[in-house]
Amino acid sequence: MAAILQEEAIQATNDDATSCKLAAVSLGYWEDPYVSYFIRSPTRKPPEINRGYYARVKGVESLINKFIKKVGNNCQIINLGAGFDTLFWRLQDTGHSVANFIELDFPAVTSKKCICIQKNKNLFNRLKAGDAAAGCTGADLHGTGYHLLGVDLQSVDRLLEKLDQCGVQDGLPTLLLAECVLVYMRGEEVHRLLSCLARRFRAALFVSYEQVNMNDRFGDMMLTNLRARSCHLPSVAACRDLDSQRQRFLQAGWDGAKAWDMVEVYHSLTSSERRRIERLEFLDEQELLMQLLQHYCIAVAWKSDLFADVSIAD
Ligand SMILES: C[S@@+](CC[C@H](N)C(=O)[O-])C[C@H]1O[C@@H](n2cnc3c(N)ncnc32)[C@H](O)[C@@H]1O
Repeated sequence: MAAILQEEAIQATNDDATSCKLAAVSLGYWEDPYVSYFIRSPTRKPPEINRGYYARVKGVESLINKFIKKVGNNCQIINLGAGFDTLFWRLQDTGHSVANFIELDFPAVTSKKCICIQKNKNLFNRLKAGDAAAGCTGADLHGTGYHLLGVDLQSVDRLLEKLDQCGVQDGLPTLLLAECVLVYMRGEEVHRLLSCLARRFRAALFVSYEQVNMNDRFGDMMLTNLRARSCHLPSVAACRDLDSQRQRFLQAGWDGAKAWDMVEVYHSLTSSERRRIERLEFLDEQELLMQLLQHYCIAVAWKSDLFADVSIAD
């Protein structure tokens, strides 16, 4: 019973993330014409949350763009714990139709995403409209070059089977994404997952966004708030600092790893971008924004030296 409640609480974090993204998009922080298909109306969020989301979306986007610039469109993107993320459609809008795009989450989440995609022509028709293969079976949806798969990421064997079914190739450059996902899994399961992915791909870049510096009072407060919503973070030990974030990948056999806290990511945005978003809403609590940014990070890890020079700065 407790395990079911915990799983439901983890899945509900996707509703929070989608709601925060829609709130920020509605205020003009960034453009995403697709997020509103997954959640009805925006709920207002405090300005520091909107700015934090902006830094996260832009930081991750800049690493994805660098990856594609390096390897071209003949690559695959695997989004672990994708929730209702709209990256597949946003990337197409920028002219990037990658060879294979795979999204994974619990079946309870992917089945809801399947329904939203099927209901909205602007989403569904982009999965290569008219293709007989584009169809939804329960929690999975297969298009040409797009696959949405329902699976518990802690069942690594099942995950590998699913990846095989949708034509994932070991030799193709691969971007793996996990935004606020690994922390909800047990440490040994994360190790198994990261080790198996490190063995599987020859040229890969892993981009992870997650909590960091959790061993202070602000971190305690974040944990208490999450616990109050029945949401526990079994892998919080890896969120101690930037080094523990990197070590998790190195111990799992990745060739190298780097990590930046979100203060650094925020300051890597161009000054004109920062000025634009800072004009969108008045922010009284600068200190609160900085505390929030200090407690999240982007970590990257790579297989193949091709990605060893990856950097958050331009
Ligand atoms: C905070 S949400 C983030 C969603 C999305 N990555 C984003 O950035 O908007 C975390 C997501 O990870 C998924 N998740 C966590 N643990 C998982 C697991 N063991 N297997 C599959 N999905 C998982 C949750 O269901 C949820 O959709």
